[in-house]
Amino acid sequence: AIDISKLRDLSGVITLDPGYKNSGSCTSEITFLDGELGILRYRGYSIEDLAGKGHFLEVSYLVIFGELPTATQLSHFESNIRKYTLVNEEMKNIIDGFPKTAHPMGVLAALTSALTAFNPKSVNVENEKEMYEAVCKTMGKFLVIATWTYRKTMGYPLNYYDNTKGYVENFMHLMFELPTEPYKANQVVIDALDKLFILHADHEQNCSTSTVRMVGSSHAGLFASISAGVSALWGPLHGGANQAVLEMLEEIHRTGGDADKYLDKAKDKNDPFRLMGFGHRVYKNFDPRAKIIKKAADEVLATLGVDDPILAIAKKLEESALVDEYFVSRKLYPNVDFYSGIIYRALGIPTDMFTVMFAIGRLPGWIAQWKEMRENKEPIGRPRQIYTGHPLRDFKTSDNR
Ligand code: ACO
Repeated sequence: AIDISKLRDLSGVITLDPGYKNSGSCTSEITFLDGELGILRYRGYSIEDLAGKGHFLEVSYLVIFGELPTATQLSHFESNIRKYTLVNEEMKNIIDGFPKTAHPMGVLAALTSALTAFNPKSVNVENEKEMYEAVCKTMGKFLVIATWTYRKTMGYPLNYYDNTKGYVENFMHLMFELPTEPYKANQVVIDALDKLFILHADHEQNCSTSTVRMVGSSHAGLFASISAGVSALWGPLHGGANQAVLEMLEEIHRTGGDADKYLDKAKDKNDPFRLMGFGHRVYKNFDPRAKIIKKAADEVLATLGVDDPILAIAKKLEESALVDEYFVSRKLYPNVDFYSGIIYRALGIPTDMFTVMFAIGRLPGWIAQWKEMRENKEPIGRPRQIYTGHPLRDFKTSDNR
């Protein structure tokens, strides 16, 4: 029999770091973040500057290609994205196969993966021109199918991209325009969405991005890799938290508004409940995105004239947690998801679309990280493990077990 302890000796030293809490998986030039100081920058530009002065498509270009676009580059980028917003009509047959009750994130992952079948050329990218085309195709088609997941749940006819409108405005048009009811998006709504998308555009090696890089490292195509990223994002410990936050706030409101009761529940180690939208793997001081979003939530609700009791509950929870020994000692602060749902709700976005909103915002980051990984010619991702199972055993037929 093989002596497993000898095998371990032969395998060399393996670093065991569950959850990769302290392991880098790559070098990257895309996003810088300092969790202690609460700093986030894309390609050297501060998130405050980008969210304050930039627009989503130019920030997407920056994240993906490394520099802010000139006016010509931006208009070329926009028109190429527009060119690729047409989605194969047969994709509608796939959507028809889903029940109306299907969660939009599940449908989005499946549709993104199906794009591979309808765009076989985007599977393998061999030169700069093909890369540019794959980027524009992904930006164009993903936005459209993301909104189709909602149209499906509502039983509405699927909309097409309107070439007279910008990318973010198109999101609202694709979602809400009905044959019987033309939709005119409010500029406040478009600006708020634009800002939210920018704040979500990249966040270095988080769970979904690492997934995109990992899947792509086997030279799987862009759509297939992004579909995997969508699935990873869906989990409530990651992007799914924005939906979970709103559901939690609604529950607190429905049950009498006692925020402190929920704080106590979150502190109880015998209760699996966690305060959704609180805590972050990297930010141990504050999440700079949460600061900007909190301010934006105040502004959007005031401008739209929305008086939402949920916002007051969120603020109360935050105030209490910030002076609570449990949260302070564990450095648990509101993260990007804590206030984003309140804005989405004010803009009329249904709760089960919140994580889809995150995915639309994160798309340029996923693309950029996939592109960087391929251009760096990174090896296939393949972590090691420490085996803790049985030593060699003899197989017994079923009548002898
Ligand atoms: N509520 C209550 N306790 C919490 C919370 C929370 N939201 N988050 C962490 N803790 C506690 C843990 O129970 C643990 O306590 P212990 O030391 O007594 O065992 C300690 O704080 C450290 O938590 P970990 O889970 O080890 O931290 P980790 O870095 O692995 O997890 C995570 C980070 C997943 C974000 C976590 O804070 C969490 O579950 N938050 C709620 C979900 C959420 O908001 N996710 C969105 C994250 S942002 C994003 O993905 C876009």
